[in-house]
Amino acid sequence: MPAKKAASPAKPAATAAKRAPSTAKRPVGITDTTLRDGHQSLLATRMKTEDMLPIAEQMDRVGFHSLEVWGGATFDTCLRFLNEDPWERLRSLRKAFQRTKLQMLLRGQNLVGYKHYPDDVVEAFVKKAVGNGIDILRIFDALNDVRNMEKAIAVGRKAKAHIQGTISYTISPVHGVEANVTMAKRLADLGADSICVKDMAGILTPSAAVDLVTELKKAVGLPIQVHAHYTSGMAAMTYLKAIEAGADVIDTAMSPLALGTSQPATETMVATLSGTRYDTGLDLGLLSEIAEYFKAVRGRYSQFDVAGSTVDTNVLMYQIPGGMISNFVSQLKQQNALDKLPQVLQEVPRVRKDLGYPPLVTPTSQIVGTQAVLNVLMGERYKMVASEVKAYVRGLYGRPPGKVDPAISKLIIGDEKPITHRPADDIPPGLAEAKKEIAPLMEKEEDVLSYALFPPNARKFFEERMAAKTGTDQRLVEEARKESKAGYYPA
Ligand code: CO
Repeated sequence: MPAKKAASPAKPAATAAKRAPSTAKRPVGITDTTLRDGHQSLLATRMKTEDMLPIAEQMDRVGFHSLEVWGGATFDTCLRFLNEDPWERLRSLRKAFQRTKLQMLLRGQNLVGYKHYPDDVVEAFVKKAVGNGIDILRIFDALNDVRNMEKAIAVGRKAKAHIQGTISYTISPVHGVEANVTMAKRLADLGADSICVKDMAGILTPSAAVDLVTELKKAVGLPIQVHAHYTSGMAAMTYLKAIEAGADVIDTAMSPLALGTSQPATETMVATLSGTRYDTGLDLGLLSEIAEYFKAVRGRYSQFDVAGSTVDTNVLMYQIPGGMISNFVSQLKQQNALDKLPQVLQEVPRVRKDLGYPPLVTPTSQIVGTQAVLNVLMGERYKMVASEVKAYVRGLYGRPPGKVDPAISKLIIGDEKPITHRPADDIPPGLAEAKKEIAPLMEKEEDVLSYALFPPNARKFFEERMAAKTGTDQRLVEEARKESKAGYYPA
């Protein structure tokens, strides 16, 4: 096991900052997301491990606060499209990054999937993630229902990982500084080591960031990290104001995988803060070498490149993250109804309101988006209801932030009462069963987890792995994979 506790030049020091006079140095930490959110946002999560490893030595020398390299959609995509074992990716990255802390994005009880998993699966998954090299767990829930985060937090703490309790930032009549501060306090009580404000759509304005960060700092006194997407063009300004208000760490991506629906560029923020009291201390020369490398990498994935570099006004108007729109376009094209796109965009905020204003992040973004498309295509709202929407109204994703419109609820589940307890309380343990089912194809403990999360895709991956060992032509498998296309998962 490599030494993980290398000194970072940008270690947040909340308590020292509080005591220090306002001109004292307060170096800001940088989490680089190129190897996770960067390519998830711009290249449909398709970057292969073989394109990450050659640059690892240089990235490891930079002195980043951490590198986000795993979780989100990367796990699913490895198995489904890249014919890669996500656990092997994590192990190779851990080996390659001897000094820098590795970070992952974890969707609370949904782990790296799209539904709630049993507690025994959550427990085993988090243990193995930390055991294989994750230092920092960024844990969120799409509804900001802390009950859905509790299990992962408890297991992560036991495994001695840094727990980053995360607020999914959104704007609605039921969300505001107060609600976010209440949530942060709850996360601190559960033992979070830091708090992340996660603005997946890119709608956090610079002034709102000042208000939120100021109040969070006052209320919890933990290091605050801001994660924003560039979609609306505000994120770099938002970061600067957030830093001035006390934010300790920001998320950026190397310039070739930054901007658009990804994060602000690492180099831009390093240069912006250079020479100020927030100087990151990172070497722009080294960063530009790394950027050259990723320029070439991006070119190799042009068939998946979803980037528009222009500002997306739809996100400002409707809070719809950029990539969701490309999903709508492909869904509507399939139905020969591309002309209905403007109606769908207007329907999204209405569905969101009906459902009690869930933040639009995986999986709620897909839930709201699918229903908006159905409502428009059917010509009558909720004439057809997606099964996930039904489950949502039943409370099976957790407690909606606001109230589900009673008339809509009646339409969808009749007189049935939604559950009021934590959804996973009703889910029986699943690990033993998964192990039984996949035993003949299993090579290591982690295989059970891949299978428990994504049964058909993991089974296919294991079968192909076995076939490859017994000499089946791998090119046929590769060809079959090229046919499939992934959806977009705002994160
Ligand atoms: Co993100």
